[in-house]
Amino acid sequence: MDTIAKIKQGRLPQHLAIIMDGNGRWAKQRGKLRVFGHENGVRAVRETVETAAKIGIEYLTLYAFSTENWKRPRLEVETLMKLLVASLRKELKTLNDNNIRLRAIGRTEALPKKALKELEEVMAMTEKNSGMTLTLALSYGSREEITSAFRALSIKVKNNLISPDNIDDAIINEHLYTHDLPDVDLLIRTSGEHRISNFLLWQIAYAELYFTDVFWPDFSEQHLIEALKSYQNRERRFGKTSEQLI
Ligand code: FPP
Repeated sequence: MDTIAKIKQGRLPQHLAIIMDGNGRWAKQRGKLRVFGHENGVRAVRETVETAAKIGIEYLTLYAFSTENWKRPRLEVETLMKLLVASLRKELKTLNDNNIRLRAIGRTEALPKKALKELEEVMAMTEKNSGMTLTLALSYGSREEITSAFRALSIKVKNNLISPDNIDDAIINEHLYTHDLPDVDLLIRTSGEHRISNFLLWQIAYAELYFTDVFWPDFSEQHLIEALKSYQNRERRFGKTSEQLI
């Protein structure tokens, strides 16, 4: 049995999220500019998306651009936006062939007009696909997302549309960008950094965390399978004891 068939027999994360890190260091190791790392990171995005869909992951969320990333040098930001537009255009067929629906979370209105237009078009053209949901976090920051939810809820309380007593997990969830996504089951971060960096703070409450030293441009099908194997060997107790799970 091949490795993919084997991994499909075990418990799979319904929602897999990835912090794609290490593009800059990968390029530096090769004496190249940081943007070279991002260009090569696109290959890893394609392979990861295709493998995840093949395995049967229902939701894959990728941290492609954070609210903090706007502070990077202008050339780097522009390159990332150009790569996004070019990749979306190029991968539309792959998304449709694999029955993948594209979504986005974050302050996408902050993206350059061209990138936003391309994104909206590809989202519309893949909307009916019923396989994996691929969510790109773009101009995304978790604290900003939670702050917006607080603001929206406060307005509803002020206008007597909701009572403070009724505010619970579910209502907060409804006001997040991720309102139609399940909680994250497995979070992967590449490049040897052990940080969350303002990514899906609410949604990873019970997620398993997996860190690998591999730089993002080198992340391949094999590395994804390793992460999923590690997930399958863990016991998720959600605060209960092992015996209560039986
Ligand atoms: C982190 O590496 C990576 C990013 C900030 C961007 C990720 C973008 C891509 C993989 C390419 C385009 C994406 C799509 C969805 C087509 P880093 O620059 O922080 O690396 P470093 O920590 O080594 O400096």
